[in-house]
Amino acid sequence: QPLVFSGMQPTNTLHLGNYLGALKNWVKLQDKMPCIYCVVDMHAITAVGYGKPEELRTAVREVAAAYIAAGVDPSRSVLFAQSAVPAHAELAWIFNCVARLGWADRMTQFKEKAGKHKERASVGLYTYPMLMAADILVYKATHVPVGEDQKQHLELTRDVAQKFNNDFNVPDFFPLTEPVIMGAGTRVMSLRDGSKKMSKSDDSDMSRINLTDDADAVAQKIRKARTDPNPLPEDEKGLEGRPEADNLINIFAALSDTSKAEVVARFAGQQFSGFKNELADLAVAKIAPIATRMRELLTDPVELDRILKDGAEKAAAIAAPVIAEAKKIVGFSH
Ligand code: TYM
Repeated sequence: QPLVFSGMQPTNTLHLGNYLGALKNWVKLQDKMPCIYCVVDMHAITAVGYGKPEELRTAVREVAAAYIAAGVDPSRSVLFAQSAVPAHAELAWIFNCVARLGWADRMTQFKEKAGKHKERASVGLYTYPMLMAADILVYKATHVPVGEDQKQHLELTRDVAQKFNNDFNVPDFFPLTEPVIMGAGTRVMSLRDGSKKMSKSDDSDMSRINLTDDADAVAQKIRKARTDPNPLPEDEKGLEGRPEADNLINIFAALSDTSKAEVVARFAGQQFSGFKNELADLAVAKIAPIATRMRELLTDPVELDRILKDGAEKAAAIAAPVIAEAKKIVGFSH
């Protein structure tokens, strides 16, 4: 049966890229299929979340609050923290043995995150994609809404599913999951540099719009966003070689739920100043209410913890028959 699964790491505050690339689509999918949304705290300790237990605990609540503030409805969707459901770790171990070293070696996100000194990265960062495959397949999820940067990990998830099914001769046991990469905001770039992804880890706070930014901050960051000196182009082709203009137009399209072509047509030949004013108004209208709602939710951590605990119980119940069957298939039955 169709089932949606997705997750975000509780490292730093969520930003506009997380919202437009993923979260916004998560909210929409709730009307179409059952959905499971996870705060992936086990992934967080593979790198920057390691060694800061209090910060991690707080960040999990913040991310849960951001999901709800953006429109994830915990009475309809399952919302929980990854570490609360041990089946993820159990299946990840099996997948570590299914996947090949060569597959892990190809992962570009590992290369980016490990940086120059690969030997100093955690082993967890290296096996990260196998845990991600386990997150998805322990629910036999069929659809995974994410931004474009997760595409390679989802291809690996399909490879793991297929190899498991073949190696153990259990055709169709794990589904071949479909990535859901939709809308104009699947790859939101830095506001300071159109060649870099908008990212939680960028040193410059001006490079991103945080979901916790207030209206003034949102508007200011858009007005100061880098652009080239030319007016907006007459057609989409005119965006070639203009990554900053392209990015702002994509953000406008994603925020207003229209296409890039429509936005280009609307502002054709105009100056950036007027366009930026409209974009700032639009972004404030969409983002500031999320920040406000998040702040309200965070005043009641007990309630957030209750929601997460309730979600973990529901998630564990869905995962239980799958992990039990997977273990039996592998030969763990004592
Ligand atoms: P994470 O925490 O880096 O990002 C969360 C989601 O936000 C999307 N995203 C973006 N989309 C558009 N533009 C950007 N600049 C941008 N930056 C981030 C990401 O594509 C992602 O959808 N490995 C995952 C977390 C994960 C997961 C999973 C996702 C763990 N297990 C299972 C789906 C299913 C990650 O690090 O996302």
